[in-house]
Amino acid sequence: MIKRIFALMTACVLLFACAGCSGDSGSTAEHEQQVNPTAEGTADDPSAEPEEDISYGNVLIVYFSNSGNTHALTEMITAEFAAETLRLIPAEPYEWATLFDRAQDELNDGIRPELTGLPEADVIAQYDTILLGFPIWWYDLPMPVWTFLEAYDLSGKTIIPYFTHNGSSNGAASLDTIETLCPDSTVMSDDALSLWGDRVADSADEVKEWLNGLGLTK
Ligand SMILES: Cc1cc2nc3c(=O)[nH]c(=O)nc-3n(C[C@H](O)[C@H](O)[C@H](O)COP(=O)(O)O)c2cc1C
Repeated sequence: MIKRIFALMTACVLLFACAGCSGDSGSTAEHEQQVNPTAEGTADDPSAEPEEDISYGNVLIVYFSNSGNTHALTEMITAEFAAETLRLIPAEPYEWATLFDRAQDELNDGIRPELTGLPEADVIAQYDTILLGFPIWWYDLPMPVWTFLEAYDLSGKTIIPYFTHNGSSNGAASLDTIETLCPDSTVMSDDALSLWGDRVADSADEVKEWLNGLGLTK
């Protein structure tokens, strides 16, 4: 049993690592090519000057994390930049045994999983900017994040994505998906932060530079 789990994990790591670094064949590779080319680390240039003349107003951090990497990254962000956070919690937790199949079925079938404890619309309305954190799932945005983005009127708001991955360092289709789901928001895809999930713990400086580059400081 342990051998089978290990083999499955190894296969997944190889699958996603390869997808992130090569022109793989099949529909997933097409996905990769369509996306906004966000570089690893701070989207374009980690040493970029802070954004000028941007007023972010009230900032809310909204994130989904299943195995903890994006959660750890969110904690690093809030250590540098104080903001309210909202973690997206699926009503039906993802179980390891069915995680990959369920996530793929949800994406393929357009299922929006129910989330628990979502705030009222007027709470979200108070914020001008959302830092949106998520892992890449099947070369796209995890469906719980689709649920959130469609649950509220986010028009006029600024959305700044950050994500963790295991090879899809350009975010695959996820950034385009956010732009499609939020046509009346300003989605700062070019400024998205991209980090390998297993390197989050060593990325404090990169996180700091990203926030400084955006002009988001305490
Ligand atoms: C269902 C599923 C699908 C995934 N698909 C991808 C993918 O397409 N590309 C990729 O780079 N990583 C993929 N990963 C790896 C995760 O993006 C990565 O491990 C991430 O850091 C997990 O974040 P979390 O710990 O916050 O849940 C996938 C992981 C899972 C569980």
